[in-house]
Amino acid sequence: MPGGAVRLADRVAVVTGAARGIGAAIAQRFAREGAFVHLLDNDVAPLEVLARDLSVEGLAAVGTPCDVSDEASVRAAVAAVLARHPHPHILVNNAGVNTHPASVTETPPEHWDQVLSTNLRGTYLVTRALVPHLTDGASVVHVASVLALEGAKAAAAYSASKGGLLALMRSMVADCSPRVRVNCLCPGPVQTEMFEAYLARVEDPEAERRRVVDALPLQRVGTVEDIANAALFLASEESSWITGHALVIDGGDSV
Ligand SMILES: NC(=O)c1ccc[n+]([C@@H]2O[C@H](COP(=O)([O-])OP(=O)(O)OC[C@H]3O[C@@H](n4cnc5c(N)ncnc54)[C@H](O)[C@@H]3O)[C@@H](O)[C@H]2O)c1
Repeated sequence: MPGGAVRLADRVAVVTGAARGIGAAIAQRFAREGAFVHLLDNDVAPLEVLARDLSVEGLAAVGTPCDVSDEASVRAAVAAVLARHPHPHILVNNAGVNTHPASVTETPPEHWDQVLSTNLRGTYLVTRALVPHLTDGASVVHVASVLALEGAKAAAAYSASKGGLLALMRSMVADCSPRVRVNCLCPGPVQTEMFEAYLARVEDPEAERRRVVDALPLQRVGTVEDIANAALFLASEESSWITGHALVIDGGDSV
């Protein structure tokens, strides 16, 4: 690799929801740090574009279609990963949706199930399929949210799903230590399609964007690179004595 030492040399990483947004930034950052990255996503066209772009850059990445909420799809994707790399080192459970923001009383069961099935069940399915095959000393990172830690209006299913990831992390620390470390990222508002979709739903998106930024001590929304930097730390040996931690990355929002 050009530019000296890399932080994930000889590592194999699996990143879900890798076609765009935070997942794509994590995948790109890991690949640039020397990892072979398996990109998993259910949106195949952008997944293939990103895998090709990374390959053109001379980086090691392959895209595999995967709907994390579907057990058969997860089984097939994990089999494809293991056929190439029987013992990966890093798993980032990033795939997530916030498709039906509403209060608990305004959330119909089918919307609740859709959000929980990707954000929580999807993480469970991928973790269940892959963790037994991870190498000793592996690192698992679940991408949760500050909404796992603090209440917000009209986010019942999403918040519950992300809170579930923190509980899953703690139970995994009890079950999987010392072989595997498990940590969570808890981002605040990050500039991605998910954030733009949130703004598009309110009456005055620009006023809401200003309100969000004004409320942040660091006076800007997060970038996908802010989150990728933290993911890199938790995935690398630099965090080798950290497990069961929920790392908040939110510009000071939750202070
Ligand atoms: N953007 C934010 O403000 C923010 C804040 C906190 C947490 N997060 C979390 O970060 C993660 C990434 O969010 P983002 O903002 O990059 O979102 P995004 O919508 O930009 O990207 C999400 C990716 O996940 C994929 N995905 C969705 N459902 C899937 C499924 N069933 N199987 C496989 N892939 C699936 C999508 O195709 C997409 O490529 C999510 O878990 C989200 O909840 C985002």
